[in-house]
Amino acid sequence: AAPARDRLRIAIQKSGRLAEPARALLSSCGMSWRESRDRLFCYGETLPVDLLLVRDDDIPGLIADGVCDLGIVGRNVLLEQDGDRRGNGRVPSFREWRALGFGGCRLALAVPESCDWRSPSQLAGRRIATSYPALLSQWLEREGIAAEVVVLLGSVEIAPRLGQADAVCDLVSSGATLTANQLKPVETLLESEAVLAGPVAPFDDVRGELADLLLRRLDGALRIRH
Ligand code: PRP
Ligand code: ZN
Ligand code: MG
Repeated sequence: AAPARDRLRIAIQKSGRLAEPARALLSSCGMSWRESRDRLFCYGETLPVDLLLVRDDDIPGLIADGVCDLGIVGRNVLLEQDGDRRGNGRVPSFREWRALGFGGCRLALAVPESCDWRSPSQLAGRRIATSYPALLSQWLEREGIAAEVVVLLGSVEIAPRLGQADAVCDLVSSGATLTANQLKPVETLLESEAVLAGPVAPFDDVRGELADLLLRRLDGALRIRH
């Protein structure tokens, strides 16, 4: 078992869409921090709650490994990595604790604007580019479609123009990226937003009380916002 800890450590995105709103939300819960010189670690001053600034994709793994206690990450990242771990026969060790009401987007299937879209069955035997292979595979299985999943880590939207794929499955926020690439969204696989992620099992030391306090303040802050 991991050694008992008396401070709570929360992983948040270092830079990117969720970075500023995540910090603002935690600040509105009455927290403030002193930053390390490299700005990767923020030491909690008003509460024993520290921040680790990391890549969003690393957050579920940091929770699973017990390196961080909680994290603020997109539901899309959390569910993709959960699906990937389950697919590899691993037991889930993180889950969504709260939806946070910012960073809203959806994981959508998109096809060229010229495509006459009628139903998902048109994807049979086609290639679909995505950074979300687990979520896409789950959806294809539910729909009973056999298609080829092409995994790309970025710039998924240019794959159809390069002849690398017939469709894409990517996050859509404003829709500007799809439009700029002459693609149109045709199916929604997942509605996503920023979430507070934590372990499946409760904390068995003082971190449990700290997490309860944080959740009470978070729920209060979220009520005021909505
Ligand atoms: C996402 C997604 C699209 C873009 C969609 O990428 O992959 O590229 O946002 O947003 P829009 O509908 O408002 O145009 P993100 O900026 O999160 O970065 P990444 O692709 O590097 O992960
Ligand atoms: Zn990312
Ligand atoms: Mg992108």
